[in-house]
This record gives sequence, C-alpha cells and structure tokens, in this order.
Amino acid sequence: MKPAGEEFPKEKYDELNVFIESLETTKGALIEILHRAQHIFGYLPRDVQLYIARKLGIPGAEVFGVVSFYSYFSTKPGGKHTISVCMGTACFVRGADKILQEFREKLGIQTNETTEDGLFTLKDVRCIGACGLAPVVMVDGKVYGRVKAGDIDGILNSYRTKEVQHADKVPGGVK
Ligand code: FES
Repeated sequence: MKPAGEEFPKEKYDELNVFIESLETTKGALIEILHRAQHIFGYLPRDVQLYIARKLGIPGAEVFGVVSFYSYFSTKPGGKHTISVCMGTACFVRGADKILQEFREKLGIQTNETTEDGLFTLKDVRCIGACGLAPVVMVDGKVYGRVKAGDIDGILNSYRTKEVQHADKVPGGVK
C-alpha cells in the first residue's frame, strides 16, 4: 500500500507496517497501533490516521474518533520544549491548577497545544513522583519544585534565552 502522506519518509510507514503485521490480530488493537504510530511519527497527522484506517479496513471516522477522544494522542507536532504541569493530588492541593492557568495565559495556548513559534507545548500530567516538591512543573526532563505563579516568567525566559543564544551561534540565525 502506498503511504498517503509524502511528509514522512517511507521508512516510517514501513516501521509501522512491520508492527501491525507482527500483531496476531488487528481486531481491538487500534489504540495500541495509534500509540506505536505516535511513537514513530511523533504525532498523528490526518494522513497517518487515514493510512491506519485503510490498513485495518475500518472507516477513517473510527480512527479520528479515537484520536480525538484520548488527550494522549496529538494531531500536531509538539513544540521544542514540553512543559508538563503535574495535576496529581499533592500538586493540586498546593495550587497546580493556578500554575497551569498561568502558563495558559502567558503562552496564549490551552493544554495539549503548542505555541505558534513552536517553542512550547503545554501538558497536564499525573503525579510524577516528586510530591514533596509540590507543586511541580517539568520542562523536558528538568523538574521545578514549589513553583509559584511568580516563577513562571523566569522559567519561560530561561528557555527563550537559550534559543536566542543558540540562534546567535548558527550562521544566519535570528539576532
Ligand atoms: S502529585 Fe505532583 S508530583 Fe506527585
């Protein structure tokens, strides 16, 4: 079968095919296949969803429905940095919802969205096992503990500054 999208190299579709063909049955395996596809492609664009639908012989609408139901699945590429605000119980009782709201306002996006410049994706996550530091925010692999609303600008700016420094070193980069 020919890949529907030309955006991704054929190898990625091949990798997905190998996985699908390794399954004993594809019946009831849609979520598992979507997880693997997101792992391979980084996200689930419409072309990839349609490809999976055709491969499994099911309606595209069925795949779209599952993808849009689970917030874990993303239909857009993620940002360069992922901000994960812990919404586990310990963090929640210490005001994680306010921290999340503050990130939403400062970034101008909702949870599971990416800023227009492609720099940040915002996520809410379950307990990340650092409850003693609640409320906790993780940016990529780095943990920030006892975060207050007043810390958010500093956190965001530290990543923005890194970008500018990086651009300075790249010929033709933004000054
Ligand atoms: S509840 Fe947030 S780290 Fe455990």
